[in-house]
Amino acid sequence: MSFSQREIESLKLTDEEFFELRDYISRLTGIYFPENKKYLIESRIRPRIEALGLKSYRAYLDFLKFSPFRARELEILFKLITINETYFFRDELQLKVIEEKILPELIQSKPKNGFRTLRIWSAGCSTGEEPYTIAMIYLEKIKPKFPDVKFEIIGTDINSSVIEVAKRGIYRQYSMRYVPENYLQRYFNCNGDEFKISEEIKKLVRFEQLNLMDRFQMVMMRNFDLVLLRNVLIYFDENARKEVVSWIYDSLNRGGYLVIGYSETLRNVTKAFKIVYFDKVVAYKKE
Ligand SMILES: C[S@@+](CC[C@H](N)C(=O)[O-])C[C@H]1O[C@@H](n2cnc3c(N)ncnc32)[C@H](O)[C@@H]1O
Repeated sequence: MSFSQREIESLKLTDEEFFELRDYISRLTGIYFPENKKYLIESRIRPRIEALGLKSYRAYLDFLKFSPFRARELEILFKLITINETYFFRDELQLKVIEEKILPELIQSKPKNGFRTLRIWSAGCSTGEEPYTIAMIYLEKIKPKFPDVKFEIIGTDINSSVIEVAKRGIYRQYSMRYVPENYLQRYFNCNGDEFKISEEIKKLVRFEQLNLMDRFQMVMMRNFDLVLLRNVLIYFDENARKEVVSWIYDSLNRGGYLVIGYSETLRNVTKAFKIVYFDKVVAYKKE
């Protein structure tokens, strides 16, 4: 079934439909849309209603809940509603603390028999700049000091398109703004306006699609020493924050750290962690 332009343009998201859609999305993904973001839901979902030949936002909600094709549509929806802003070497101060304080502490806490392996999870990694940054820091700064230490780095995101970009490892200038010159020379191959991450870095990181609100996926994530959950919780409502952070607590080893975004806080979210202050940088330790 196809619609005339006029029918599509006249599709309006009622308040009632907005609240239902927003609650459904938030239960499923954690992502919360306040009322001033109603237009965003309306405009992003409208092309899907058209493509599926549906008549209203309510019909779309029913499609998401009950259609045999719901899994595929949810995939598409996740791509429409996520904000994937990221870049290499984001938040220099935090990275310095991770490199100089947190990683050495984690390494030193591991028993010294054979290789010591640190497991690191970049949760909500978007197009991969964050876990690749950690891999570069490992090769450049950690491995020379601790040659018996290996890193296992996992990057996950709900949006399957960004995971594909991460696996490809080819970036534009936008992602490269804060890459220090020596890292640029050593770990990227430049081709015109494209920057390809080196194979050496690429093979240190594994990428998977994972929804932080999916408890079945979350119980599979275990034995991490460091979890980066930066600039993800800001988009979540309070319940989702509490739920995700408690599952991440379970995913950490004793002595492990959680690092959230520089401007984020776990106040009113959890008391389970010990708050550790490294000058201006805060990290959360599982004791
Ligand atoms: C703003 S980016 C942050 C990227 C990176 N952590 C950084 O700080 O540069 C937020 C990412 O969280 C992902 N995300 C949002 N909700 C999620 C969920 N329920 N499960 C997994 N990832 C999610 C989005 O797809 C997006 O790529």
